[in-house]
Amino acid sequence: MLVLGIETTCDETAAAVVERTGEGPGKILSNIVLSQIAEHAPFGGVVPEIAARAHVEALDRIVGKAMMEAGKTFAELDGVAAAAGPGLIGGVIVGLTTAKAISLVNGKPLMAINHLEAHALTARLTSGIAFPYCLFLASGGHTQIVAVVGVGKYVRLGTTVDDAMGEAFDKVAKMLSLPYPGGPEVERSAAGGNAKRFAFPRPMLGRPDANFSLSGLKTAVRNEASRMMPLEPQDVSDLCASFQAAVLESTADRLSVGLRLFHEQFGPPRALVAAGGVAANHAIRGALQDVAAKAQTTLIIPPPALCTDNGAMIAWAGAERLALGLTDTMDAPPRARWLLDANATAPAGYTNTRAGF
Ligand code: KG4
Ligand code: ZN
Repeated sequence: MLVLGIETTCDETAAAVVERTGEGPGKILSNIVLSQIAEHAPFGGVVPEIAARAHVEALDRIVGKAMMEAGKTFAELDGVAAAAGPGLIGGVIVGLTTAKAISLVNGKPLMAINHLEAHALTARLTSGIAFPYCLFLASGGHTQIVAVVGVGKYVRLGTTVDDAMGEAFDKVAKMLSLPYPGGPEVERSAAGGNAKRFAFPRPMLGRPDANFSLSGLKTAVRNEASRMMPLEPQDVSDLCASFQAAVLESTADRLSVGLRLFHEQFGPPRALVAAGGVAANHAIRGALQDVAAKAQTTLIIPPPALCTDNGAMIAWAGAERLALGLTDTMDAPPRARWLLDANATAPAGYTNTRAGF
């Protein structure tokens, strides 16, 4: 089963061709990602209107490149998938409309994919892991612990009550005048810093639920930084290292609760899987290793390039849905907001064409 996947929900214009022959792992025939970092950097963050225009300008070429590198024609595809949300609506419209056009002209099924579902299923593309597994999804817009019970069957066990984890990294970077995008910059700076210099709070530590909170920690970093102005490079590194250490400890604690809740409801998970841009962070990858070992489960983290946004994860989610006959019609709407676990309440055999789910 050969599927083209298109991703345009944020600041990457991406397309990929992926082959699914069974439960996974799948085969990535091409995976082209064009980052818009240069366009947004002068503004210190993603500007939605600039993103949408950049997607329009680049997408045809990126899709063409993905098809050429895969050595396939549209006629050889079994389906076309696009991220239909959640995300910046202008970009989502560009990707979904392009997928609809390719689908319509070539008579191929369309899959309108939830971007979060694509992150959730990436571990099956890379490792062929069986259901159920426990997902830690941490990106720029989301921080969740999710029981992945099957394709379209997601149960949220914990979530952030304020900022997303990637957002907290980005905001800390901004307040320390590190360049955009912030996450990798904070990680880089933290590598040369003293994580013990500042005793930042460990949010939600010991709480019986599996929720996260990051805004108090972010404020603590801001207060400390403004107290010390002007900052020397070593101060920045120490602040980054101390912030990252607090995130790690809080994450480990929240995940151990999440894994316990998973166990109570679904039995032992096949694995702890991390996904989303923050899972590209090497320190977090190390911390998760300990959490998984303590919970006597395996840790699976896709390679960094498949943790951050890409077309292969969309193509794979499309192939997973196509294999179950879960296709969409031409009126599938682009969605700025779209809960992952809303899928779990959908009736059997439904196709996700209406807003509200
Ligand atoms: O999944 P993703 O590529 O896009 C969204 O769907 O949001 O995640 C992007 C987020 C950004 O907030 C970025 O700063 C964060 O992931 N991120 C990182 C790292 N690489 C990306 N955060 C911490 N450390 C990293 N190495
Ligand atoms: Zn993402």
